[in-house]
Amino acid sequence: MCGIVGYIGKREAYPIILNGLKRLEYRGYDSAGIALFDGTDIQLCKTKGKVADLEAKAEREIILKGNLGIGHTRWATHGVPNDVNSHPHYSNSGDLVIIHNGIIENYDSLKKELKKRGYTFTSDTDTEVLVNLIEDIQINEKVKLGKAVQIALNQVVGAYAIALFDRKKPDEIVVAKLGSPLAIGIGEDEFFVASDASPFIEFTNNAIYLEDEEMAIIRLGRDVKVRKIKGDKLVAPYVQELQLNLEQIEKGGYDHFMLKEIHEQPAVIKDTYRGRLLAEKGIVRLGGLEDYIEKFINADRIVIVACGTSWHAGLVAEYIFEDLVRIPVEVEYASEFRYRNPIISENDVVIAISQSGETADTLAAIKLAKSKGAFVYGICNVVGSTISRETHSGTYTHAGPEIGVASTKAFTTQITVLAMIALRLAKAKGTISQTDFMLYLRELELIPNHVDEALKTEDKIKEISAVFKDARNFLYLGRGYNFPVALEGALKLKEISYIHAEGYPAAEMKHGPIALIDEHMPVVVIAIKSDHYDKVVSNIQEIKARKGKIIAVVSEGDTAVREMADYVMEVPHTPEALSPLVTTIPLQLLSYHIAVMLGRNVDQPRNLAKSVTVE
Ligand code: G6P
Repeated sequence: MCGIVGYIGKREAYPIILNGLKRLEYRGYDSAGIALFDGTDIQLCKTKGKVADLEAKAEREIILKGNLGIGHTRWATHGVPNDVNSHPHYSNSGDLVIIHNGIIENYDSLKKELKKRGYTFTSDTDTEVLVNLIEDIQINEKVKLGKAVQIALNQVVGAYAIALFDRKKPDEIVVAKLGSPLAIGIGEDEFFVASDASPFIEFTNNAIYLEDEEMAIIRLGRDVKVRKIKGDKLVAPYVQELQLNLEQIEKGGYDHFMLKEIHEQPAVIKDTYRGRLLAEKGIVRLGGLEDYIEKFINADRIVIVACGTSWHAGLVAEYIFEDLVRIPVEVEYASEFRYRNPIISENDVVIAISQSGETADTLAAIKLAKSKGAFVYGICNVVGSTISRETHSGTYTHAGPEIGVASTKAFTTQITVLAMIALRLAKAKGTISQTDFMLYLRELELIPNHVDEALKTEDKIKEISAVFKDARNFLYLGRGYNFPVALEGALKLKEISYIHAEGYPAAEMKHGPIALIDEHMPVVVIAIKSDHYDKVVSNIQEIKARKGKIIAVVSEGDTAVREMADYVMEVPHTPEALSPLVTTIPLQLLSYHIAVMLGRNVDQPRNLAKSVTVE
């Protein structure tokens, strides 16, 4: 939700910030803005629309000069997306300029107080309240900018990553973080600030990730000074060496990041198990898990909390864990879990799944579970993210940066990690035979090849997409392990094509959705060879009898479903427990091609954001 970028140093700030905003646009893209400071004048430009709109406007309207600057790409929370509500925001004097990612929940009461003191507001945003609160403190308490920020943040309830500067201090940027991510890139006599490291990766490999409730004063010619917002303690910052490279955050010849990320899956699934899974030797070993195996296998139950696509990966894990490890599993939407007074005890293990590691509801669910004494294990993609730090232990997926808003490779790498955890635990608990254990390890190692095969059917899937692109509704059906895949397939289509789609357990169709079926309704059925194959075949017949159009995901060599279906998308055979890793591929491609044919903005679908740092 919102991307922020800042620069202070010897270079021109404009191209760095503009480029940085383009890289962060996945975080929000309803408006954008930039402020440049050349030591005397501030040039500020902002607009509703995308970063490209900002670029056009800035190049028309302002002088693009200055070695200090901040920029913002927005996902609106307070105030509709328009020019005025876009960031940066000035304080009343025009001296302070701020950008903000997050929400100030008590902004209304603070605003009333400030109005009584004569402050005026041009926007509807909570951010303009914050910058004026800081200014008010600076003036009344006669303190420096850093101190004023600190006092103000102690009065604020909510979440934020902020960056601001003061016209009177041309060599300084102040930043602070609570609940939204903030990285500081350390160059030679120059500093970068951003929501993630992508805006500065070509300039430096060294970064400090602020912890929650920390702020930093970044001054040219000095070290970055990090301190606690509460209690004022100085913190020795940990400068991390980044693993990211430029290639990973570029499209690499693909039309969209989403397509690139779909095609990266064979490689990133391999990256995710590399060094952890040695099928030949019968070893699966996850660094973060080894010390907690007893805790897991003696747990009363496992509770999985997540949102969106990560929640679907959690549903797949419910099947794998109960099947292989024989531990009861519950999968919860983090947003529901956190507010419904859940019964959680010290004997529960909670697994939190999050690509970004920043999702506000998942983070709150983790904090709640910890407060009730549960052990919390994280599965995150973004290294150093808040959730990865907030959990007791965990495993990273090695998907690399996922930039397309619709999640693809994060989903399959999450399932890869969850399958490895299940296999490791099943082995330790003795709920799997040695033969089956070895078979699963070998099959897991083969998944990248199977995904590769599934990707080769893309041309066929394009043809199917052309046939159904104008449908107004889709139904997705699957059973067992592939019920969550049906949910995920429907979500992908909704997210990027704006076609209404519903995922359902195939057998539940009779209890409602069957009423919707007629000759206009495409029904995507996951009908691979499995224990439920015959049942799914019966479901397909029920759809056919009502003239529904069947698009079936089938196993290689299938004949029965092929005869009944209008179209088939073939995937290689794999044990059912691992099948979501391959059956999801044609569904990703189907949604992608339909969205492209409809002319949608695939990487930045309307109203969505990649990282939801507000509840
Ligand atoms: C947003 C994204 C989804 C993602 C969900 C959870 O809604 O658009 O793609 O699945 O957040 O995000 P997380 O980073 O916690 O996996």
